[in-house]
Amino acid sequence: MLFSKRIVAICPLIGVGLASPLADHVFGRSLCKVLPGDAAWPSSGDWSQLNKTVGGRLIATSPIASICHNPTYNETACSNLESIWQSSAAHVYSPAEVIDPLFQGNSCIPFTAIDAPCTVGILASYSINVSSVADIQAGLKFAQNKNVRLVIKNTGHDLLGKSTGKGSLALWTHNMNQVEFIGSYKGDSAYTGTAVKLGAGVIFKDVLPLGQAKGVRLMAGSCATVGATGGYTAGGGHGGLTSQYGMAADSVLEWEVVTVDGKHLTATPKRNADLYWALSGGGAGTYAVVVSMTTRTYKDGPLNWASFTMTADDAAFNGDVDAFWSAVGTFQANIGPLVDQGAVITYDITETELIVFSITMPGGSDVTSILEPLTSALGAHGVSISLTTTTFPTFWALHSTVFGAAEAATHSGQFSGGRLVPRSLLENATAVTALGQSFRSAIESGFQVSCTAVNGSSKAQPAEANAVHPLWRTSTLSCLIFEFWDFTKSWDDNLATQATLTNDAMPKIIAASPGGGAYLNEANFEEPNWQNSFYGSNYARLKSIKDKYDPQGVLYARTAVGSEKWAEDGTHRLCQVQ
Ligand SMILES: Cc1cc2nc3c(=O)[nH]c(=O)nc-3n(C[C@H](O)[C@H](O)[C@H](O)COP(=O)(O)OP(=O)(O)OC[C@H]3O[C@@H](n4cnc5c(N)ncnc54)[C@H](O)[C@@H]3O)c2cc1C
Ligand SMILES: *[C@@H]1O[C@H](CO)[C@@H](O)[C@H](O)[C@H]1NC(C)=O
Ligand SMILES: *[C@@H]1O[C@H](CO)[C@@H](O)[C@H](O)[C@H]1NC(C)=O
Ligand SMILES: *[C@@H]1O[C@H](CO)[C@@H](O)[C@H](O)[C@H]1NC(C)=O
Ligand SMILES: *[C@@H]1O[C@H](CO)[C@@H](O)[C@H](O)[C@H]1NC(C)=O
Ligand SMILES: *[C@@H]1O[C@H](CO)[C@@H](O)[C@H](O)[C@H]1NC(C)=O
Repeated sequence: MLFSKRIVAICPLIGVGLASPLADHVFGRSLCKVLPGDAAWPSSGDWSQLNKTVGGRLIATSPIASICHNPTYNETACSNLESIWQSSAAHVYSPAEVIDPLFQGNSCIPFTAIDAPCTVGILASYSINVSSVADIQAGLKFAQNKNVRLVIKNTGHDLLGKSTGKGSLALWTHNMNQVEFIGSYKGDSAYTGTAVKLGAGVIFKDVLPLGQAKGVRLMAGSCATVGATGGYTAGGGHGGLTSQYGMAADSVLEWEVVTVDGKHLTATPKRNADLYWALSGGGAGTYAVVVSMTTRTYKDGPLNWASFTMTADDAAFNGDVDAFWSAVGTFQANIGPLVDQGAVITYDITETELIVFSITMPGGSDVTSILEPLTSALGAHGVSISLTTTTFPTFWALHSTVFGAAEAATHSGQFSGGRLVPRSLLENATAVTALGQSFRSAIESGFQVSCTAVNGSSKAQPAEANAVHPLWRTSTLSCLIFEFWDFTKSWDDNLATQATLTNDAMPKIIAASPGGGAYLNEANFEEPNWQNSFYGSNYARLKSIKDKYDPQGVLYARTAVGSEKWAEDGTHRLCQVQ
């Protein structure tokens, strides 16, 4: 077995919820988006006009779980859906579904009674099956003319509910699936070499095998059904190759976009350079609608890989869980030098186990000697680490074997919080202990901790300036603090888990990681002071670019730059905050 069954958080979504936390505001109706049922909601004639404009590609959305309810109940189909509901695959390919249960909104799920109501709830009401720039322009224009909320739905993986919204028109990008390999890219960047142009809807499992066949690989996250061009890269994007090539956003050469005024632009380090800068790390769904991106590819080849597990019942600890946690601290303190040599390390910590699920290293590296400082530091605790090592011939071979199996085996709906931990903190023994205590406390209150360790300022990457959170350049760990959504519990009990995360677990972790922040794609939607946590010193410049390209806030997404101007009221109606 390459990996443990306990491994989680590989492809799960984070459970974040729209439902509870937004305070009611006093809203002026005119500053609010329309909802179905409003007098101002577009007429059926308006919608059919839009449908004509987009060549019949407009979909009136219907929840996929409607097959579990009357009048469309189908026992076989429902029981199939029920069995896969908590996997990402059930939701990724649909025009309006999202993976996170909180943002699904509990309005139509397979687990309620057959005659329980099934409504579209807070999912998009209509979705354009986008196939062209013209479709995007038509959607943007309609949403603005009719004051309808607009969302962009690619895979629906987003953990902060950014790809859905009540009463919205969705631009569904899934079928924008162009993949064009470029043998010798020359453009506005200093880089020349191999590249690939990817349509907005391409997911990793579509492009990585094609790249492998061409002898190239590209930056990719751990989950093969995440979009390559959507939220992942625009938010920064980390993965098994980060310590070699930098963040995914660092590899981007060009963005092809439609701005909210309908202009079809290319953004490069020289053309529309402010937009290029913001789109590369400053968060998706904010500045423009992406049509395609052109990004670097790298020569494919072997990668070394290792994993190991350390448990509290190891004889070395003699049943002493404190001693186990002390060794966990030693592990975390020794990660820095490993990532500097190109390793990316993904590990999960439970109350009594450290599961070092994946250590990805450059091909040709001497795994045992690179890991020797770590194994000998753990040896000082009396622990004898038993490494599993393998060489994979290509990146996709590693990815599909290690992460593909984990994705298939784990649930997707999660509650999540996130923390970027500075390298300097891991070099301070007192601080490492305090961080470990905060993790342990979160774990004891029912959460799991899963961290990815990278060097996000790898020298191999001659980076164009971009809006990747500056903390990625000085941090080592990106940690997810999560728990799975539990459909056997009531909605309110699940919301209570979210409240514990926000009000108890995360504040302790934040307090124990001074100088840290959070990765905007792997975080709590209720993160306090998110502007600083998610964007750091880039926020002001990003805000000015947002105001330049989208002054009316047509592109709203929770915790996106400029989103503080908007909030949902108790009925999930999106309104400007006065
Ligand atoms: C199980 C799991 C594993 C993950 N693993 C990693 C990982 O290893 N590394 C990592 O860095 N991140 C990881 N993530 C986080 C991931 O990067 C984000 O969830 C990301 O937002 C997904 O982007 P998407 O386009 O696939 O999803 P969506 O939910 O469809 O979109 C996400 C956001 O991007 C916007 N967007 C999408 N397409 C466009 C477009 N064409 N133009 C403009 N805006 C657009 C949407 O409006 C939304 O705001 C993981 C997430 C999950 C759930
Ligand atoms: C849009 O037109 C197509 C083709 O005529 C039709 O199949 C589809 O149902 C229409 N969509 C809506 C929302 O009416
Ligand atoms: C019910 O679902 C099954 C499986 O998807 C399908 O084969 C069957 O045709 C459906 N039955 C009806 C009556 O729609
Ligand atoms: C969306 O459009 C694609 C073609 O671009 C088509 O193959 C697919 O069936 C459409 N999907 C839906 C749900 O309408
Ligand atoms: C080490 O961390 C502790 C706890 O966070 C802090 O009080 C101390 O100032 C740090 N020491 C250094 C040298 O930064
Ligand atoms: C990343 O590695 C480089 C050496 O390649 C080193 O100079 C830098 O300090 C490292 N940064 C972090 C945050 O680990």
